[in-house]
Amino acid sequence: MQKITHFYFDEIDSTNDELKRRFHSDDRPADWTVVSAGHQTAGKGRSGHEWKSPTEDSVATSLIFYPKVQIRHVPRLTILSGMAVAAALEKLYALPTRLKWPNDVLIHERKICGILCEMEPDGDRAAYVIVGIGVNVHQKDFPEDIRDMATSVDLELKKSEQKMQSSRKDIDRQIWLEFARLYQEFEKTEDLSDLLDEYNKRLVNVNQTVRVLDPLGEYQGKSLGIDRRGDLLVQREDGSIVAVDSGEVHVRGIYGYV
Ligand code: BTN
Repeated sequence: MQKITHFYFDEIDSTNDELKRRFHSDDRPADWTVVSAGHQTAGKGRSGHEWKSPTEDSVATSLIFYPKVQIRHVPRLTILSGMAVAAALEKLYALPTRLKWPNDVLIHERKICGILCEMEPDGDRAAYVIVGIGVNVHQKDFPEDIRDMATSVDLELKKSEQKMQSSRKDIDRQIWLEFARLYQEFEKTEDLSDLLDEYNKRLVNVNQTVRVLDPLGEYQGKSLGIDRRGDLLVQREDGSIVAVDSGEVHVRGIYGYV
């Protein structure tokens, strides 16, 4: 299993940005270096959004590693990040985690974490891949705009009437252990062949109708699960099966986000 080097800051702008700075410094981080923080002052979300990580209430953690896979295969790797969070929370607290393709982690249909993967190209390879994960842990409430969509570990432990105390440190550690375990499987085949069952058993909307928001035209079909490349297989009404690539399209449930 990979040796992981871990750095912790009480406060930082963004754990993803810290790793990027280190990568471009004279002191490049070792393969599998993790930077975590108690609080981010400029946490980054997807599509240029801000990601709030309130002081000591959440996990903000990022990993840099140097996989040898071709750039076009990197999205396969980012699939592992959602799987790692789901497996960690299930292992530590027996929480019923589900995955919304490609890598949203849901508990009772609410998002428990955000994941931002970044990389820089170096020819047809990635110079690095950074996987940044923010997990809601101790939050008791959320801003109004995300109140109905977000949850935290503590809120879910309360719902399931569990007496267990959550620990940001344990969650942080377990996520990267799970990621390393999954990566070991991935490396054998350079795809998700050996991880399909683990992913698909957690996938929401399997065998249900989903809306595929393709820029070339929206359509509906039955979600069949992912294939070894991480594409979502959707059966259209005419019986044909489309492999949906996460780079281009989003998938929604029929009545809303899930
Ligand atoms: C999203 O928009 O859902 C992705 C949010 C990703 C947040 C994490 S927190 C740790 C890492 N550092 C950042 O600046 N962002 C990611």
